Amino acid sequence: MKTLNNKWALVTGSSRGIGRAIAKALAERGCNLVLHARSLENLAATVADIKAYNIQYHLVSGELDSPEGVAAVIDGVKAGPGYVDILFNNAAINNVSTPVFEFTQAEWMRTFQINLFSMVQLCAAFGPGMRERGFGRIINTTSGIAGQPDLAPYSASKAAVDKYTQDLAVEFKDCNVLVNHVDPGWIRTDLGGPNAWEDVDSVIPGMLVPALLDDNGPTGRFYAAQDFKGL
Ligand SMILES: NC(=O)c1ccc[n+]([C@@H]2O[C@H](COP(=O)([O-])OP(=O)(O)OC[C@H]3O[C@@H](n4cnc5c(N)ncnc54)[C@H](OP(=O)(O)O)[C@@H]3O)[C@@H](O)[C@H]2O)c1
Repeated sequence: MKTLNNKWALVTGSSRGIGRAIAKALAERGCNLVLHARSLENLAATVADIKAYNIQYHLVSGELDSPEGVAAVIDGVKAGPGYVDILFNNAAINNVSTPVFEFTQAEWMRTFQINLFSMVQLCAAFGPGMRERGFGRIINTTSGIAGQPDLAPYSASKAAVDKYTQDLAVEFKDCNVLVNHVDPGWIRTDLGGPNAWEDVDSVIPGMLVPALLDDNGPTGRFYAAQDFKGL
C-alpha cells in the first residue's frame, strides 16, 4: 500500500459523509491530518475513527460561509502544523430543491461562498507554500450533477470548481503541485440523501487517487471515484 507518512492533509468537512471516509483512508496510509468541521464537537466520530492509527492530528473549526470564517480555518492550521502538503477541498452544501427562478440572490451567494470562494481562499493560503516546498496535492471535490435546474446554484458552483481547478493546475505546472478534481458519485450522505445509488464506503479508494499520485504526475485531471470502486 502506498503511504503518505509525514505528510499533512487538511480535509475540509471531515466530520461526516465523504470527508470522514477520506480522513479515515488517509489515516490508514499514515497521513497526518487536520480535520475540519463547523464545530470541534462535530469531529468526535472522525477522531474516534483515526485514533487507532499512528498519526498526528489537529482539529480546526470554522464556518466557510464568509471570508472571515475561512480565515479562521487558515489560522487554525497555522496554529497546528503550520502548513499542509495535501489540501482536500471536500466541504460543500447542496440546495433545497427550488424552482430555478425562485432561488434568492442570498442563496446563490451563500452556495458559491461555501462551495467555490472558500476553496479559492484555501488554495491561495496553502498553494504558494506547496510550491516553495516542492510538493503539493490539491484535490477539489466536484459533482456529476447535470440537468437539474432545481439545484442550479449547487450545480453551477461545481462547474466553477471544475474550471478553477483546470486554471490552477496551469498556474502550478512543472512544480510538483498537482491540482485535480474528483467526483465521488451519488452517495448516501446527508447531502446526497437516502435515495443515492452508492454507500459512502464506495468512494474509497477513488477519492484518494489524486492524493496518491507520483511526483510530477497528472494535473488538471478529472477523476470519477466510482471508477475505482472495489479495487
Ligand atoms: N453525496 C453525494 O451524492 C455527492 C455527489 C457529488 C459530489 N458530492 C460532494 O462531496 C463533498 C462531500 O459531500 P457529502 O455528501 O459528504 O456532504 P455532507 O455529508 O453533507 O457533509 C458535509 C461536510 O461539509 C461540512 N460543511 C457543510 N457546510 C459547511 C459550512 N458552511 N462551513 C464549514 N463546513 C461545512 C460539514 O461539517 P459539519 O458536520 O460541521 O456541518 C460536513 O463535514 C461535497 O463537496 C459534495 O458536493 C457529494
